[in-house]
Amino acid sequence: MTTRLLQQIIPTIATSDGAGVKLRRSLGQSQALRFDPFLMLDEFFSDNPDDYIAGFPSHPHRGFETLTYMLEGHLLHQDHLGNQGNLKSGGVQWMTAGRGIIHSEMPQQTSGRLRGFQLWINLPAKEKMKPASYLDVQPEQIQVINLPDGGQAKIIAGTTTIEGQKYIGAIQGISTKPLFMDIRLPAGSSFSLSIDASQQAFIYNYDGCIAIGADSEQRTLEAQSAGLLSAGEKVQIMSGAKASAFLLLAANPLREPIVQYGPFVMNSLKEIEQAIDDYKNNRLV
Ligand code: CO
Repeated sequence: MTTRLLQQIIPTIATSDGAGVKLRRSLGQSQALRFDPFLMLDEFFSDNPDDYIAGFPSHPHRGFETLTYMLEGHLLHQDHLGNQGNLKSGGVQWMTAGRGIIHSEMPQQTSGRLRGFQLWINLPAKEKMKPASYLDVQPEQIQVINLPDGGQAKIIAGTTTIEGQKYIGAIQGISTKPLFMDIRLPAGSSFSLSIDASQQAFIYNYDGCIAIGADSEQRTLEAQSAGLLSAGEKVQIMSGAKASAFLLLAANPLREPIVQYGPFVMNSLKEIEQAIDDYKNNRLV
């Protein structure tokens, strides 16, 4: 069984989005730094309300999907379909923008910590114009797995097997078959997992320091960094002298052309021009 190696590190950069929410971006900080089908990964993390209070007022999307995962805090999602979703600590939202969604994501707190992630995943060409949809997953719907060498894993999307037992995430039925896990390891602990060899996989480390790979080929990944993994059938991760926490993601690549203009991600310039025109003329959704 080939163990996947840490082949590229993408440290985050500080940036802002929405109406001025400060965040750290790993994937998606430039068009070259994507990992098919993953387009972008942001971590927002602040105890200072000035960094997040303006939120993400009404804005459009077309052509891809988003997963928002809150560690701490409270965001309210509202969209043109009339959906309202309260995203609280430990909760997840999956949103398929498809042909178009217009939504807002606003903090429901004026103090305290807001910490979470937003991931953008591409849609295959044949699904880019499907109707928008969304799913809220409450914290209690997310299965927590006690790991054999200590630590815990939450399975949020996809399916995995650990020590012969199968675990099914709350989010299923996405055509790129994403696996999205949040894993916490105590100091000096190790974790390994089989991942389908046809999938692209990466790790976003958000606390502590981890070593990825087997034996002499281990490489270190610091916190607030994404690590893209080579091909292989399994991944092996060790925490260092302190506890660690990281996201493990995998999905089927699409291998299709990508043309992005802000919140629109399509396959050709013509489709982007159409999206801009549709949005200007109230035909996006
Ligand atoms: Co949005």
